[in-house]
Amino acid sequence: MKILRLNHGLRGDIRVPGDKSISHRSILISSLGDTPIEITNFLKGADCLSTIACMRAMGVKIQEYENKILVTGKGLNGLSEPNDVLNAGNSGTTLRLLLGLLAPQKFMTTFTGDDSLKSRPMDRVIKPLIEMGANIVGRNKNKNLPITVIPSVKKIQGIVYKMPVASAQVKSAIMLAGLYADGVTKIIELYPSRDHTEKMLEAFGVNINKLHNEISLFPIKKIIAPSKIDISGDISSAAYWIVLATILKDSDIIIKDVGINETRTGIIDVLKNMGANIEISNERISGGEKYADIHVMTSKLHGVTFGAEIIPRLVDEIPIIAVAAAFAEGDTIIRDAGELRVKETDRLKAIVNEFGKIAPGTFEALEDSLIIHGGHIFNFAKCKTYDDHRMAMSLAIFGAAANGVEIDNPGCIKISYPDFYNILER
Ligand code: S3P
Repeated sequence: MKILRLNHGLRGDIRVPGDKSISHRSILISSLGDTPIEITNFLKGADCLSTIACMRAMGVKIQEYENKILVTGKGLNGLSEPNDVLNAGNSGTTLRLLLGLLAPQKFMTTFTGDDSLKSRPMDRVIKPLIEMGANIVGRNKNKNLPITVIPSVKKIQGIVYKMPVASAQVKSAIMLAGLYADGVTKIIELYPSRDHTEKMLEAFGVNINKLHNEISLFPIKKIIAPSKIDISGDISSAAYWIVLATILKDSDIIIKDVGINETRTGIIDVLKNMGANIEISNERISGGEKYADIHVMTSKLHGVTFGAEIIPRLVDEIPIIAVAAAFAEGDTIIRDAGELRVKETDRLKAIVNEFGKIAPGTFEALEDSLIIHGGHIFNFAKCKTYDDHRMAMSLAIFGAAANGVEIDNPGCIKISYPDFYNILER
Protein backbone atom coordinates (compact mmCIF):
# COMPACT_ATOMS: atom_id res chain seq x y z
CA MET A 1 0.00 0.00 0.00
CA LYS A 2 1.25 3.47 -0.92
CA ILE A 3 0.54 6.35 1.46
CA LEU A 4 1.24 9.74 -0.06
CA ARG A 5 2.43 12.87 1.64
CA LEU A 6 -0.42 14.91 3.14
CA ASN A 7 -0.23 18.51 2.07
CA HIS A 8 -2.79 19.97 4.46
CA GLY A 9 -3.49 19.77 8.19
CA LEU A 10 -6.03 17.58 10.00
CA ARG A 11 -9.30 19.21 11.05
CA GLY A 12 -12.46 18.04 12.75
CA ASP A 13 -13.71 15.57 15.35
CA ILE A 14 -13.02 11.85 15.32
CA ARG A 15 -13.67 8.81 17.46
CA VAL A 16 -11.34 5.86 17.87
CA PRO A 17 -12.38 2.22 18.33
CA GLY A 18 -12.76 0.60 21.75
CA ASP A 19 -9.73 -0.11 23.90
CA LYS A 20 -8.03 -3.40 23.01
CA SER A 21 -6.91 -4.24 26.56
CA ILE A 22 -10.34 -3.52 28.05
CA SER A 23 -12.12 -5.40 25.23
CA HIS A 24 -10.16 -8.59 26.03
CA ARG A 25 -10.86 -8.26 29.73
CA SER A 26 -14.56 -7.57 29.15
CA ILE A 27 -14.95 -10.98 27.44
CA LEU A 28 -12.77 -12.96 29.86
CA ILE A 29 -14.28 -11.56 33.04
CA SER A 30 -17.89 -11.51 31.77
CA SER A 31 -17.46 -15.21 30.97
CA LEU A 32 -17.13 -15.88 34.71
CA GLY A 33 -20.57 -14.47 35.44
CA ASP A 34 -23.82 -16.35 34.93
CA THR A 35 -26.05 -13.49 33.80
CA PRO A 36 -26.13 -11.81 30.35
CA ILE A 37 -23.73 -8.86 30.07
CA GLU A 38 -24.01 -6.26 27.29
CA ILE A 39 -20.69 -4.86 26.06
CA THR A 40 -20.69 -1.69 23.95
CA ASN A 41 -17.85 -0.11 21.92
CA PHE A 42 -16.10 -3.50 21.88
CA LEU A 43 -13.07 -3.57 19.57
CA LYS A 44 -13.71 -6.08 16.79
CA GLY A 45 -10.00 -6.34 16.07
CA ALA A 46 -8.43 -9.72 15.29
CA ASP A 47 -6.82 -10.02 18.74
CA CYS A 48 -10.09 -9.56 20.63
CA LEU A 49 -11.83 -11.93 18.20
CA SER A 50 -9.21 -14.54 19.20
CA THR A 51 -10.31 -14.10 22.83
CA ILE A 52 -13.97 -14.51 21.81
CA ALA A 53 -13.16 -17.70 19.86
CA CYS A 54 -11.26 -19.22 22.82
CA MET A 55 -14.07 -18.47 25.30
CA ARG A 56 -16.71 -19.88 22.92
CA ALA A 57 -14.64 -23.06 22.65
CA MET A 58 -15.02 -23.41 26.43
CA GLY A 59 -18.79 -23.16 26.35
CA VAL A 60 -19.39 -19.43 26.88
CA LYS A 61 -22.30 -17.98 24.88
CA ILE A 62 -21.10 -14.88 23.03
CA GLN A 63 -23.46 -13.16 20.59
CA GLU A 64 -22.10 -10.48 18.26
CA TYR A 65 -24.40 -7.68 17.09
CA GLU A 66 -23.61 -4.59 15.03
CA ASN A 67 -23.25 -2.31 18.08
CA LYS A 68 -22.84 -4.65 21.00
CA ILE A 69 -21.66 -8.03 22.23
CA LEU A 70 -23.76 -10.12 24.59
CA VAL A 71 -21.86 -12.53 26.86
CA THR A 72 -23.60 -15.14 28.98
CA GLY A 73 -21.09 -16.99 31.10
CA LYS A 74 -21.41 -20.20 33.07
CA GLY A 75 -20.18 -18.93 36.40
CA LEU A 76 -16.77 -19.02 37.99
CA ASN A 77 -16.52 -22.84 37.70
CA GLY A 78 -18.60 -23.45 34.60
CA LEU A 79 -16.03 -23.38 31.77
CA SER A 80 -15.78 -26.66 29.89
CA GLU A 81 -12.89 -28.51 28.26
CA PRO A 82 -12.42 -27.39 24.64
CA ASN A 83 -12.40 -30.21 22.11
CA ASP A 84 -9.46 -28.83 20.18
CA VAL A 85 -6.30 -26.77 20.55
CA LEU A 86 -7.04 -23.11 21.36
CA ASN A 87 -5.50 -20.62 18.93
CA ALA A 88 -4.53 -17.23 20.37
CA GLY A 89 -3.47 -15.97 16.92
CA ASN A 90 -1.20 -12.91 17.26
CA SER A 91 -2.51 -12.00 20.70
CA GLY A 92 -0.18 -12.03 23.71
CA THR A 93 -3.02 -10.73 25.89
CA THR A 94 -5.34 -13.61 24.96
CA LEU A 95 -2.69 -16.23 25.67
CA ARG A 96 -1.15 -14.83 28.84
CA LEU A 97 -4.43 -13.91 30.54
CA LEU A 98 -5.99 -17.23 29.60
CA LEU A 99 -3.04 -19.18 31.04
CA GLY A 100 -3.84 -17.53 34.37
CA LEU A 101 -7.57 -18.14 34.11
CA LEU A 102 -7.15 -21.77 33.05
CA ALA A 103 -4.42 -22.77 35.50
CA PRO A 104 -7.01 -23.47 38.27
CA GLN A 105 -9.55 -25.27 36.01
CA LYS A 106 -10.29 -28.97 36.22
CA PHE A 107 -9.68 -29.69 32.53
CA MET A 108 -6.73 -29.57 30.16
CA THR A 109 -6.13 -27.05 27.40
CA THR A 110 -3.44 -26.73 24.76
CA PHE A 111 -2.61 -23.39 23.13
CA THR A 112 -1.01 -22.40 19.89
CA GLY A 113 -0.72 -19.12 18.00
CA ASP A 114 0.83 -17.50 14.94
CA ASP A 115 4.58 -17.41 14.20
CA SER A 116 5.06 -14.13 16.07
CA LEU A 117 3.33 -15.40 19.22
CA LYS A 118 5.25 -18.70 19.00
CA SER A 119 8.51 -16.78 19.37
CA ARG A 120 7.42 -14.59 22.33
CA PRO A 121 8.45 -15.41 25.92
CA MET A 122 5.78 -17.18 27.96
CA ASP A 123 7.98 -18.35 30.84
CA ARG A 124 7.39 -14.97 32.51
CA VAL A 125 3.77 -16.04 33.12
CA ILE A 126 4.27 -19.81 33.44
CA LYS A 127 6.85 -19.38 36.22
CA PRO A 128 4.63 -17.52 38.74
CA LEU A 129 1.66 -19.74 37.86
CA ILE A 130 3.74 -22.86 38.63
CA GLU A 131 4.73 -21.18 41.90
CA MET A 132 0.99 -20.95 42.64
CA GLY A 133 0.68 -24.70 42.10
CA ALA A 134 -0.30 -24.80 38.42
CA ASN A 135 0.74 -27.62 36.13
CA ILE A 136 1.80 -26.06 32.83
CA VAL A 137 4.23 -27.32 30.20
CA GLY A 138 5.54 -25.55 27.14
CA ARG A 139 8.03 -26.05 24.34
CA ASN A 140 11.61 -24.90 24.80
CA LYS A 141 11.75 -25.35 28.60
CA ASN A 142 8.37 -23.73 29.21
CA LYS A 143 9.31 -20.67 27.21
CA ASN A 144 7.22 -20.95 24.05
CA LEU A 145 4.03 -22.19 22.42
CA PRO A 146 2.60 -24.78 22.13
CA ILE A 147 1.69 -24.77 25.82
CA THR A 148 -0.52 -27.21 27.71
CA VAL A 149 -2.30 -26.49 30.98
CA ILE A 150 -2.95 -29.69 32.92
CA PRO A 151 -5.39 -29.88 35.87
CA SER A 152 -3.35 -29.56 39.01
CA VAL A 153 -3.71 -32.09 41.86
CA LYS A 154 -3.01 -29.31 44.36
CA LYS A 155 -5.30 -26.33 44.86
CA ILE A 156 -3.91 -23.04 43.52
CA GLN A 157 -2.26 -21.07 46.34
CA GLY A 158 -2.06 -17.31 46.78
CA ILE A 159 1.55 -16.12 46.55
CA VAL A 160 3.53 -12.94 47.04
CA TYR A 161 5.07 -12.15 43.67
CA LYS A 162 7.58 -9.43 42.99
CA MET A 163 7.37 -8.71 39.28
CA PRO A 164 10.76 -8.99 37.54
CA VAL A 165 9.38 -7.21 34.41
CA ALA A 166 6.71 -4.53 34.21
CA SER A 167 3.91 -6.43 32.50
CA ALA A 168 0.16 -6.01 32.84
CA GLN A 169 -0.29 -9.33 31.10
CA VAL A 170 1.73 -11.23 33.69
CA LYS A 171 0.08 -9.31 36.55
CA SER A 172 -3.37 -10.06 35.12
CA ALA A 173 -2.64 -13.77 34.68
CA ILE A 174 -1.61 -14.04 38.34
CA MET A 175 -4.71 -12.15 39.46
CA LEU A 176 -7.07 -14.32 37.39
CA ALA A 177 -5.50 -17.47 38.90
CA GLY A 178 -5.72 -15.77 42.31
CA LEU A 179 -9.54 -15.60 42.03
CA TYR A 180 -9.52 -19.38 42.64
CA ALA A 181 -6.64 -19.51 45.12
CA ASP A 182 -6.39 -20.53 48.74
CA GLY A 183 -5.47 -17.27 50.43
CA VAL A 184 -4.55 -13.81 49.26
CA THR A 185 -2.47 -13.14 46.14
CA LYS A 186 -0.08 -10.23 46.44
CA ILE A 187 1.74 -8.67 43.50
CA ILE A 188 4.50 -6.09 43.84
CA GLU A 189 5.34 -3.96 40.81
CA LEU A 190 8.38 -1.75 40.42
CA TYR A 191 6.44 0.71 38.23
CA PRO A 192 2.69 0.37 37.77
CA SER A 193 1.53 -1.22 34.52
CA ARG A 194 -1.99 -0.78 33.11
CA ASP A 195 -4.61 -1.60 35.74
CA HIS A 196 -7.68 -2.47 33.65
CA THR A 197 -7.88 -5.97 35.14
CA GLU A 198 -7.96 -4.61 38.68
CA LYS A 199 -10.61 -2.04 37.73
CA MET A 200 -12.82 -4.52 35.95
CA LEU A 201 -12.51 -7.23 38.62
CA GLU A 202 -13.54 -4.64 41.21
CA ALA A 203 -16.56 -3.79 39.07
CA PHE A 204 -17.41 -7.53 39.25
CA GLY A 205 -17.27 -7.57 43.05
CA VAL A 206 -13.71 -8.83 43.60
CA ASN A 207 -11.98 -7.45 46.68
CA ILE A 208 -8.68 -5.83 45.71
CA ASN A 209 -6.50 -3.63 47.91
CA LYS A 210 -3.87 -1.34 46.45
CA LEU A 211 -1.13 0.20 48.51
CA HIS A 212 1.55 2.06 46.57
CA ASN A 213 2.84 -0.54 44.09
CA GLU A 214 1.40 -3.55 45.94
CA ILE A 215 -1.84 -5.19 44.88
CA SER A 216 -3.62 -7.73 47.11
CA LEU A 217 -6.40 -9.78 45.58
CA PHE A 218 -8.79 -11.89 47.64
CA PRO A 219 -10.31 -15.08 46.19
CA ILE A 220 -14.01 -15.03 45.36
CA LYS A 221 -16.81 -17.65 45.42
CA LYS A 222 -19.18 -15.95 42.99
CA ILE A 223 -18.91 -13.04 40.55
CA ILE A 224 -21.42 -10.21 40.95
CA ALA A 225 -21.63 -9.03 37.37
CA PRO A 226 -22.85 -5.64 36.14
CA SER A 227 -25.42 -5.82 33.34
CA LYS A 228 -23.46 -3.49 31.04
CA ILE A 229 -19.87 -2.61 30.20
CA ASP A 230 -19.08 0.38 27.99
CA ILE A 231 -15.54 0.43 26.62
CA SER A 232 -13.65 3.72 26.25
CA GLY A 233 -11.84 4.66 23.02
CA ASP A 234 -8.31 3.24 22.79
CA ILE A 235 -5.64 5.83 23.60
CA SER A 236 -3.14 3.58 21.81
CA SER A 237 -5.19 4.06 18.59
CA ALA A 238 -5.76 7.77 19.30
CA ALA A 239 -1.96 8.08 19.57
CA TYR A 240 -1.58 7.95 15.75
CA TRP A 241 -3.88 10.94 15.23
CA ILE A 242 -2.44 12.80 18.22
CA VAL A 243 1.04 12.59 16.70
CA LEU A 244 -0.10 13.30 13.13
CA ALA A 245 -2.03 16.42 14.19
CA THR A 246 0.95 17.60 16.26
CA ILE A 247 3.48 17.34 13.46
CA LEU A 248 1.33 18.38 10.45
CA LYS A 249 0.97 22.08 9.75
CA ASP A 250 -2.46 23.72 10.35
CA SER A 251 -4.00 20.89 12.34
CA ASP A 252 -6.70 21.19 14.96
CA ILE A 253 -8.62 18.05 15.93
CA ILE A 254 -10.69 16.69 18.78
CA ILE A 255 -10.62 12.96 19.50
CA LYS A 256 -13.77 12.09 21.44
CA ASP A 257 -14.42 9.62 24.25
CA VAL A 258 -10.86 8.38 24.67
CA GLY A 259 -9.85 6.36 27.75
CA ILE A 260 -7.41 8.39 29.84
CA ASN A 261 -6.69 5.84 32.57
CA GLU A 262 -3.52 7.19 34.23
CA THR A 263 -1.63 3.96 33.56
CA ARG A 264 -2.03 4.61 29.80
CA THR A 265 -1.46 8.35 29.33
CA GLY A 266 2.35 8.37 29.21
CA ILE A 267 2.23 9.46 25.56
CA ILE A 268 0.37 12.63 26.47
CA ASP A 269 2.88 13.48 29.21
CA VAL A 270 5.83 12.87 26.88
CA LEU A 271 4.37 14.83 23.95
CA LYS A 272 3.50 17.73 26.26
CA ASN A 273 7.09 17.69 27.57
CA MET A 274 8.21 17.86 23.93
CA GLY A 275 6.10 21.02 23.48
CA ALA A 276 2.86 19.58 22.10
CA ASN A 277 -0.34 21.53 22.40
CA ILE A 278 -2.77 18.97 23.85
CA GLU A 279 -5.81 19.73 25.99
CA ILE A 280 -7.99 17.24 27.84
CA SER A 281 -11.63 18.18 28.42
CA ASN A 282 -14.99 16.71 29.30
CA GLU A 283 -13.52 14.19 31.78
CA ARG A 284 -15.88 11.56 33.17
CA ILE A 285 -15.80 8.09 34.73
CA SER A 286 -17.71 4.96 33.70
CA GLY A 287 -17.15 1.43 35.01
CA GLY A 288 -14.15 2.68 36.99
CA GLU A 289 -12.39 3.93 33.82
CA LYS A 290 -11.78 7.60 32.99
CA TYR A 291 -12.79 9.03 29.58
CA ALA A 292 -12.18 12.45 28.01
CA ASP A 293 -11.98 14.38 24.74
CA ILE A 294 -8.47 15.16 23.53
CA HIS A 295 -7.87 18.40 21.64
CA VAL A 296 -4.65 18.48 19.59
CA MET A 297 -3.15 21.36 17.64
CA THR A 298 -0.01 21.67 15.51
CA SER A 299 3.07 22.31 17.63
CA LYS A 300 6.79 22.70 17.38
CA LEU A 301 8.46 19.81 19.21
CA HIS A 302 11.85 19.44 20.88
CA GLY A 303 13.69 16.29 21.99
CA VAL A 304 13.30 14.78 25.48
CA THR A 305 14.76 11.93 27.55
CA PHE A 306 12.66 9.39 29.40
CA GLY A 307 12.94 5.85 30.82
CA ALA A 308 11.82 3.06 33.19
CA GLU A 309 9.31 5.00 35.31
CA ILE A 310 7.09 5.98 32.41
CA ILE A 311 7.73 3.07 29.99
CA PRO A 312 4.82 0.86 31.17
CA ARG A 313 2.46 3.84 30.67
CA LEU A 314 3.39 4.16 26.97
CA VAL A 315 4.92 0.81 26.05
CA ASP A 316 2.79 0.39 22.90
CA GLU A 317 3.25 4.01 21.82
CA ILE A 318 7.04 4.04 21.46
CA PRO A 319 7.01 3.53 17.65
CA ILE A 320 4.68 6.51 17.14
CA ILE A 321 6.60 8.60 19.71
CA ALA A 322 9.72 7.82 17.67
CA VAL A 323 7.94 9.29 14.62
CA ALA A 324 7.13 12.47 16.59
CA ALA A 325 10.75 12.62 17.77
CA ALA A 326 12.01 12.51 14.16
CA PHE A 327 10.12 15.79 13.58
CA ALA A 328 11.41 17.38 16.80
CA GLU A 329 14.39 19.62 17.17
CA GLY A 330 17.29 17.89 18.94
CA ASP A 331 17.72 14.36 20.25
CA THR A 332 15.18 12.17 22.02
CA ILE A 333 16.52 9.37 24.20
CA ILE A 334 14.25 6.51 25.25
CA ARG A 335 15.84 4.33 27.94
CA ASP A 336 14.80 0.99 29.52
CA ALA A 337 12.77 -0.02 26.48
CA GLY A 338 14.06 -3.61 26.19
CA GLU A 339 10.46 -4.93 26.35
CA LEU A 340 10.03 -3.66 22.79
CA ARG A 341 12.28 -6.48 21.64
CA VAL A 342 9.63 -9.05 22.65
CA LYS A 343 6.48 -7.41 21.30
CA GLU A 344 4.71 -8.57 18.08
CA THR A 345 8.14 -8.07 16.49
CA ASP A 346 11.45 -6.71 17.78
CA ARG A 347 10.23 -3.12 17.56
CA LEU A 348 13.61 -1.51 18.33
CA LYS A 349 15.15 -3.35 15.39
CA ALA A 350 12.13 -2.64 13.17
CA ILE A 351 12.23 1.10 13.99
CA VAL A 352 15.94 1.40 13.19
CA ASN A 353 15.70 -0.64 9.97
CA GLU A 354 12.43 0.64 8.54
CA PHE A 355 12.00 4.18 9.91
CA GLY A 356 15.67 4.55 9.00
CA LYS A 357 14.76 4.12 5.31
CA ILE A 358 12.56 7.22 5.56
CA ALA A 359 15.03 9.21 7.65
CA PRO A 360 18.54 7.77 7.25
CA GLY A 361 20.81 8.33 10.23
CA THR A 362 17.94 9.39 12.51
CA PHE A 363 17.32 6.21 14.57
CA GLU A 364 19.85 4.32 16.66
CA ALA A 365 19.14 1.44 19.04
CA LEU A 366 21.26 0.05 21.83
CA GLU A 367 20.33 -3.16 23.67
CA ASP A 368 17.40 -1.54 25.51
CA SER A 369 17.29 2.06 24.38
CA LEU A 370 16.48 4.15 21.37
CA ILE A 371 18.04 7.42 20.27
CA ILE A 372 16.29 9.61 17.74
CA HIS A 373 18.14 12.53 16.16
CA GLY A 374 15.35 14.92 15.17
CA GLY A 375 15.09 17.24 12.22
CA HIS A 376 16.46 15.20 9.31
CA ILE A 377 15.47 15.13 5.64
CA PHE A 378 12.77 12.59 4.79
CA ASN A 379 12.73 10.25 1.77
CA PHE A 380 9.96 8.33 0.10
CA ALA A 381 10.73 4.70 1.05
CA LYS A 382 9.49 1.13 0.69
CA CYS A 383 9.26 -0.26 4.23
CA LYS A 384 8.45 -3.57 5.88
CA THR A 385 5.82 -3.80 8.60
CA TYR A 386 7.20 -7.09 10.00
CA ASP A 387 3.46 -7.98 10.13
CA ASP A 388 3.20 -5.78 13.21
CA HIS A 389 0.08 -3.60 13.42
CA ARG A 390 1.77 -0.81 15.38
CA MET A 391 4.73 -0.72 12.96
CA ALA A 392 2.32 -0.52 9.99
CA MET A 393 0.30 2.37 11.46
CA SER A 394 3.39 4.26 12.62
CA LEU A 395 4.95 3.90 9.15
CA ALA A 396 1.73 5.14 7.53
CA ILE A 397 1.70 8.23 9.77
CA PHE A 398 5.42 8.79 9.19
CA GLY A 399 4.95 8.61 5.41
CA ALA A 400 1.89 10.87 5.45
CA ALA A 401 3.75 13.55 7.41
CA ALA A 402 7.07 13.10 5.55
CA ASN A 403 7.40 12.20 1.88
CA GLY A 404 5.15 9.20 1.43
CA VAL A 405 5.78 5.51 2.10
CA GLU A 406 5.01 2.11 0.62
CA ILE A 407 4.35 -0.66 3.14
CA ASP A 408 4.05 -4.42 2.78
CA ASN A 409 1.25 -6.43 4.43
CA PRO A 410 -0.82 -3.32 5.31
CA GLY A 411 -3.63 -5.67 6.43
CA CYS A 412 -1.88 -6.46 9.73
CA ILE A 413 -3.54 -3.34 11.23
CA LYS A 414 -6.70 -5.47 11.62
CA ILE A 415 -5.22 -6.62 14.96
CA SER A 416 -6.12 -3.38 16.73
CA TYR A 417 -7.60 -0.83 14.30
CA PRO A 418 -9.40 -2.37 11.30
CA ASP A 419 -10.68 1.04 10.10
CA PHE A 420 -7.32 2.84 10.30
CA TYR A 421 -6.71 3.43 6.57
CA ASN A 422 -10.31 4.56 5.98
CA ILE A 423 -9.91 7.20 8.69
CA LEU A 424 -6.51 8.24 7.30
CA GLU A 425 -8.01 8.56 3.83
CA ARG A 426 -10.91 10.62 5.19
C1 S3P B 1 -1.37 -5.39 27.36
C2 S3P B 1 -0.21 -5.18 28.04
C3 S3P B 1 1.05 -4.77 27.40
C4 S3P B 1 0.83 -4.25 25.99
C5 S3P B 1 -0.13 -5.09 25.21
C6 S3P B 1 -1.48 -5.19 25.91
C7 S3P B 1 -2.56 -5.83 28.11
O1 S3P B 1 1.91 -5.88 27.35
O2 S3P B 1 2.06 -4.15 25.31
O3 S3P B 1 -0.32 -4.54 23.91
O4 S3P B 1 -3.68 -5.76 27.57
O5 S3P B 1 -2.41 -6.24 29.26
P1 S3P B 1 2.83 -6.26 28.62
O6 S3P B 1 1.96 -6.29 29.79
O7 S3P B 1 3.41 -7.60 28.31
O8 S3P B 1 3.88 -5.19 28.65
